[in-house]
Amino acid sequence: MAIISASVFLSKNSYQLLYKIARTFTGCRIHSLSLGSPSLVVHRQSRSISSNTNAITKSEGKEAEIPQASEFLKYLRQRIKATGAITVAEYMQECLTNPYYGYYSRKNPFGRQGDFITSPEVCQIFGELVALWCVNEWNISNIGAVPFQIIELGPGTGTLAYDMLRILKSFPQIGNTVSLHLVERSSELARQQAKKLGIEAIDQTWLTGAGKGTVEGAVDGPVDGAGDVLHYQTGISQFGIPVYWYQRIQDIPKGAPAFIVANEFFDALPIHKLQMTDGKLREVLVDVTEDDSRLRFVIAPNETAAVRLVPKESRKRQHLELSVEAGVVLNDIADRVTDHGGGALIIDYGHDGTKTDTFRAFQHHKVLDPLHEPGQADVTADVDFSLLRQMLRPKAISYGPITQSTFLFNMAFEQRFNALMKACKSDEEQDRLAAACDVLINPAKMGGQFFVFAVFGWKRGRLGPVTGGFQ
Ligand SMILES: C[S@@+](CC[C@H](N)C(=O)[O-])C[C@H]1O[C@@H](n2cnc3c(N)ncnc32)[C@H](O)[C@@H]1O
Repeated sequence: MAIISASVFLSKNSYQLLYKIARTFTGCRIHSLSLGSPSLVVHRQSRSISSNTNAITKSEGKEAEIPQASEFLKYLRQRIKATGAITVAEYMQECLTNPYYGYYSRKNPFGRQGDFITSPEVCQIFGELVALWCVNEWNISNIGAVPFQIIELGPGTGTLAYDMLRILKSFPQIGNTVSLHLVERSSELARQQAKKLGIEAIDQTWLTGAGKGTVEGAVDGPVDGAGDVLHYQTGISQFGIPVYWYQRIQDIPKGAPAFIVANEFFDALPIHKLQMTDGKLREVLVDVTEDDSRLRFVIAPNETAAVRLVPKESRKRQHLELSVEAGVVLNDIADRVTDHGGGALIIDYGHDGTKTDTFRAFQHHKVLDPLHEPGQADVTADVDFSLLRQMLRPKAISYGPITQSTFLFNMAFEQRFNALMKACKSDEEQDRLAAACDVLINPAKMGGQFFVFAVFGWKRGRLGPVTGGFQ
C-alpha cells in the first residue's frame, strides 16, 4: 500500500516560479477543486474507506439499513456449498455489484467524503487534457463534420465527462457533431452523472418498454440487432450535447468514429487468478474452510475455461490475473476503432506483466485480505497491460503504458496549470490547486502509480506519433 506522503514533486521553489509565471496570465475559471490538502487525498493504491460502513444509500439518496457483513458471508457460503468453489471473478462480481450487498450498489465511495478520490475529482486539468487528446486525435484522423462519439466506461460521479464536454463544446467545429455515451451499471451513479451534466429532463422511456428512438452519433442508425434502442437513460447536457447511458459497451450503436475513455474502469472488472501448479496453469478458486467458518483460496484440480483463454505469450507465467470481461470490452473497442475510426485511452494503476498477486481489498486506508468481510471493502486488482496488449492483437494496435505524469506533461499540463493559477482569487486557492496538481503529476503519487495506454486501428500507425508522448 502507498499512502500519499507529504513530499511534493514540484518543490516549493518551483511552485513559486510557477506562481510567478502564472500571475502573468489571465482569465481561466476554476471549478471542482475537491482537494482539501494532499494528505486527504487517497487513490486506488491507498484507498481510504470511510468509517460509515453501517449505512447504505438507496437510489433516492436516503440512508437505509445495511445488510450485515455476516449475512453476505452466509449467503456466499451457501452459494459455494450449493454449486462448489467459485472463481475469483465470480467472488469479485458479488462483492462489487451484488444488487443488495455489493460495494458499488450500496453507497457512493467517491470524493473527499467518500472512500477514495480519482484523478478527475482531484483537479479539472485531468479531464480537460483528456478532452484535448481526443480533439487532437480527431484532427489528426481528419474526421471532419461527421457525427462522432465520446464513450466513457465507468463514469463514476460524471466529473470527467463534465470536464470533457466543457472543453469539447468550446471547439465550434466539434460541439455540434459530438454525442456522449456512458457505460454505467449502477443506477444511483447514473442518476448522479445526469445531475452533474446538468440534464434537466431525463428520458427513461426505455425502462418502461416504450423506448424506440434515435441515437445521435449513430451513422448507420440507432439500432443494434433486433432494432431496439439499448440505452436505458438519455438527456441533453447543459452543453447542448446529447448523452446516453448503457449497461454494456456492446449496446452502444456502431457506425461513427468513437473516442473511448476509461479511467479506473478496468481495475474494477472481475479477474480470474491463475497459478502454475505442478507445471500446469491452474485456476485459483474461492471455497469455504472445512469447519465452514471462513472463506479460503483453493486450486482447481482440473483445467478451467479461463486457463484456455490465456494468450499464448503468457502461458508460461507463474501467476496471472486475467479479466475475461476486459477481453470482451477490448474486443468491442478494437472493432470500433478499426471499423469506424477514433481511439481509446485506458488509464489505470497496473503493471506490464511484472507483478504476481495484486488482488486485494481496501478498508480504512489499509490493504486487507480480500476474503475478509466481503462486500464491506473495495476489492480490486492491478491492470495487467501486457495481457491487454496480447488480447488486442492482431485486431488493434496499442501504445504504452506510459505514466500519467508523462502523459499529462506531454499534453501541456504546465501551461494549463499556469493559466489556472493566474485565475485563482487567493493564495489559499493557489495552494489548493498546487497541491491537487502535485497529486496528479508527482511520480511518487498518482503521476507515477497510474499508467496511460492507447488503442487504435492499425491505420493510425501511418499518421505519425500518437498524441500524449506514446512511443
Ligand atoms: C472507480 S470508478 C471510476 C470512476 C471514474 N471513471 C473516475 O475517474 O472518477 C468505477 C466505475 O465503473 C463502474 N463499473 C464498475 N464495473 C462496471 C461494469 N462491469 N460495467 C459498467 N460499469 C462498471 C462503477 O459503477 C463506477 O462508475
